[in-house]
Amino acid sequence: MLKSLIAALVAGVSLVGAAQAAELSIVAGSIGKDIEELRGQLDAFEKASGHTVKIVTMPASTTDQFGQYRLWLSAGNEDVDVYRTDVIWAPQLAANFVDLTDAMRDVVGQHSPAIVQSQTVDGKLVAMPLYADAPALYYRKDLLEKYGKSVPGTWAELTETAREIQDKERAAGNAQMNGFVFQGAAYEGLTCDALEWIASNGGGQIVSPEGEITVNNPKAAEALDMARGWVGTIAPAGVLGYMEEESRGVWQTGNAVFMRNWPYAYNLGNGADSAVKGKFDAAPLPAGAGGVSAACLGGWNLAVSQFSRNKDAAIELVKFLVSPESQKQRALGTSRLPSIPALYDDADIKAQQPLVAKWKSVFENATPRPSAPTKAKYNEVSQQFWTAASKTLAGQGDAATNLDALEKQLRRLKRSDW
Ligand code: GLC
Repeated sequence: MLKSLIAALVAGVSLVGAAQAAELSIVAGSIGKDIEELRGQLDAFEKASGHTVKIVTMPASTTDQFGQYRLWLSAGNEDVDVYRTDVIWAPQLAANFVDLTDAMRDVVGQHSPAIVQSQTVDGKLVAMPLYADAPALYYRKDLLEKYGKSVPGTWAELTETAREIQDKERAAGNAQMNGFVFQGAAYEGLTCDALEWIASNGGGQIVSPEGEITVNNPKAAEALDMARGWVGTIAPAGVLGYMEEESRGVWQTGNAVFMRNWPYAYNLGNGADSAVKGKFDAAPLPAGAGGVSAACLGGWNLAVSQFSRNKDAAIELVKFLVSPESQKQRALGTSRLPSIPALYDDADIKAQQPLVAKWKSVFENATPRPSAPTKAKYNEVSQQFWTAASKTLAGQGDAATNLDALEKQLRRLKRSDW
């Protein structure tokens, strides 16, 4: 009798324990060392909280991730508690996520107000900032020095320098050398790159913050035609299939003079296995003639699914991963930009990740994609835009013709309002 009572009590105790310790799952795309770094932080969270967390790994492309998440969320998937979300998704996925306003009240003020704003839809805090993103022009210091060139401030200078160094290196026996690599595949990444070419040439932001379709203009066409001229000359023809990791692959094996990429490539480029370790630096992207450098605003956030059965534990996890401690560790380990402005003054970050420390103003002045004005239709807007850019790069019609067709498509999509 006593024995069974004790057994029941023990069972009861362990049952209570089991009910408190949640088994969570977080879904995230795999780029660079992101998943490895996330696992390390989850291990620390598991230790501190008693919960366990599984990672569901997604492909690298944000476009592929978005498609999968939209399917899962519309099917009410209960298997994923926390989603790592792109900065552009908040208006489209808002209805599927928990409002984090109350849960994050005491910590949200640590983060950049502009990013928090981008994750707030009709007063609902849809996701918390994990890290910010704003691209750089990576350049080979050694090669610029060898040929007596300076870091290009305009796209025309970049084109010329890339061409000259590429040709001379090839003539000297380095047949694999390319002038410039970027993201030319037909996906969200091309929207970022093409927006930068256009905005920095005075061609606007595709759709203005007020919701007006502005993309069909001569400055925008000029920028796209310029990029078309790079394909097969300073950039390999294969750039039409490159996303971030493919560009980094070429760059990190030492086969490009310039690369457009996000800050994560800084840390990896300086890794022990990198052929360009210590040979490169990063600067703001060039501008068009008479234009101003434009960096597309990127970044990732964490959202809690409204279908999660462990919302409280999921919120605890989000708080842990977005905290100053975790963001500092992430910046040191992967050169991801903190969304917490105070961390840009951190002595360790300044010493170990100089790009991060330098990049505060670049991300603060970055050019947003038109996800706010186009609301739930952003994905289609972006898809039509990157398709027009992709066709132009591939030589299927010139930029003016493709932008004219794009404007008509966007007008149909908009109808009377977004
Ligand atoms: C980076 C950015 C993200 C963007 C993506 C495009 O991951 O952080 O905002 O959508 O690149 O490939």
